Amino acid sequence: MSVHRLARKLMATRAVEESFFELSHVYFAGKRRVNVPISPTLSLHRAPVQTIAIAGGKGGVGKSNVAVNLAAALGSGDHEVLLVDGDLDLGNIDQLLNLRPDNSLCDVFAGICTLDDVVLQGPRGVSVIPSASGVMEMAHLSHIEYAGLIGLFSELPTDADTLIIDVATGLSESVLSFCRAVREVVIVVVDEPTALHDAFSTIRVLHQRCHVHRFRIVANKTESSRHGLDLYGALADLTERHLDVLLDYCGSVPLDAQLKQAVRQRRSVVEAFPRSPAALAFRKLAARVARWPQPQAPCGHIEFFIERLIDVADGTR
Ligand SMILES: Nc1ncnc2c1ncn2[C@@H]1O[C@H](COP(=O)(O)OP(=O)(O)O)[C@@H](O)[C@H]1O
Ligand SMILES: [Mg+2]
Repeated sequence: MSVHRLARKLMATRAVEESFFELSHVYFAGKRRVNVPISPTLSLHRAPVQTIAIAGGKGGVGKSNVAVNLAAALGSGDHEVLLVDGDLDLGNIDQLLNLRPDNSLCDVFAGICTLDDVVLQGPRGVSVIPSASGVMEMAHLSHIEYAGLIGLFSELPTDADTLIIDVATGLSESVLSFCRAVREVVIVVVDEPTALHDAFSTIRVLHQRCHVHRFRIVANKTESSRHGLDLYGALADLTERHLDVLLDYCGSVPLDAQLKQAVRQRRSVVEAFPRSPAALAFRKLAARVARWPQPQAPCGHIEFFIERLIDVADGTR
């Protein structure tokens, strides 16, 4: 089945379509009750899920490593994390964690398996949804098809309290769709003029096209904490001159040979070298992330695990 036919099949459930229209209707135009069809497989009283995208624009800045290690650091605490490879055509989370997926998101789109069949066990406390790699068909989905995919997460039987999605390099539709569907967008930046510029362009586009107002900044591959702060300062200067957005500096991850060694071993540095400077930085980042406000109510457009937020909003009305 082609992805287009699958999208139509997904839309045929009407959950995505109806939730989109109902929510935009209700939350932009008043406080009428939302009537989103809920799958019978869903538990009605599950807690909301914190949802975080790891973005940054440029390739090679460390997005995937930040996603993997932030997930591992949260999972080694008392969190349950769902780590999603959002780079649908060139994903590499499975490589970074030495996973051997039998199925991929591509198979979900082809109707061969369900999202649940794709989930693999990663480091402690982390479940992983790997992506397809080198599958051209997955490279050009429409925003409706991404909405269908995001909607499928609501049917996933998971105890995760946090979803982390590693988004692709660049500003493709997948990056926009996934960043629009989360509560927190982390921008990873390194000290290179092109990376700084790409981070700024990513912030500009996500702000203007996806209405993201707050960005969490992580400086990667730094030589010192001062270096990270300076890098953040440069990005903040550039951003403040052009955009009305909120930047929150979340600290730096040092350039660390042990992280590279962990990559070669296909493990997170948090697990492989827990006392390394990079692992320490990721645990500090995780402690900070754990303090971010939890989503309490639907935000008014398609987002991951939307039904849980509707349940909460219904329960408090
Ligand atoms: N803090 C770090 N210290 C050392 N090497 C790093 C660090 N962060 C990332 N790298 C290396 O940089 C390269 C790109 O990282 P990756 O996470 O794949 O970037 P992206 O997902 O942004 O393309 C990898 O070889 C990785 O090992
Ligand atoms: Mg990557």
